[in-house]
Amino acid sequence: MQLRAVKNYEEMSILASSMLVEKVNKLERPVLGLATGSTPEGLYKQLIKQYEEKKVSFQHVKTFNLDEYVGLNKQDEQSYHYYMKDKLFRHVDIPEQHVHLPNGAATNLDEECKAYESRIKENGGIDVQILGIGLNGHIGFNEPGTSFSSRTHLVDLAPSTRQANARFFTSLEQVPEQAITMGIDTIMQSKEILLLVSGEKKAKAVARMVEGDITEEFPASILQKHPNVRVIGDEAALSLL
Ligand code: GLP
Repeated sequence: MQLRAVKNYEEMSILASSMLVEKVNKLERPVLGLATGSTPEGLYKQLIKQYEEKKVSFQHVKTFNLDEYVGLNKQDEQSYHYYMKDKLFRHVDIPEQHVHLPNGAATNLDEECKAYESRIKENGGIDVQILGIGLNGHIGFNEPGTSFSSRTHLVDLAPSTRQANARFFTSLEQVPEQAITMGIDTIMQSKEILLLVSGEKKAKAVARMVEGDITEEFPASILQKHPNVRVIGDEAALSLL
């Protein structure tokens, strides 16, 4: 695991964006794994800026998001489909058919998980996966206790995760109880991982991810075994290391 310490959230976003742009410009058909949450919002703003300055084009980029809530349709403002469209896709030149997120409104969710996994494979796998980390060590929506060999699957969200994400909804009751997420093994298959982390609130989780035991009780700990992980963290997030 390689750690890159930066001053603050803005520097984290700028550095992540420049790394991603370099990758997109280098690869012929880049496949990016994307994440939601507050952490990557600044990165998406920087990518839009780079696009507007004509430093990058997304025409040949394909994307696969980590996860999506179950039961929300794509137009729902709380869905990750909406988030991605609003925060990145509608601002850049990525073709609509290049964008992939699990469909949380599918009638057969197990089939949807299998199909999503196949679509990632058919596209040659993920070149760079962007990750955030949950306070309980979740990556994507892989909660503590998830098998390290899991592929895209249906999950019950931990009460603490629903609580943490309630800020995006009008009340806790409205936060879905389930989600579809890439599995831990799906994430581990990415050629490269860029994990972003900011703020003191995440410091304990980061320390455990980097220095703690590798255990399914703390999903992000598996990243210690990935050959190409870069963690970009601000001073506050890295303060316990
Ligand atoms: C959410 C997402 C994760 C994200 C994490 C942290 O539940 N499913 O992909 O990394 O929680 O979110 P935030 O960046 O808002 O702290």
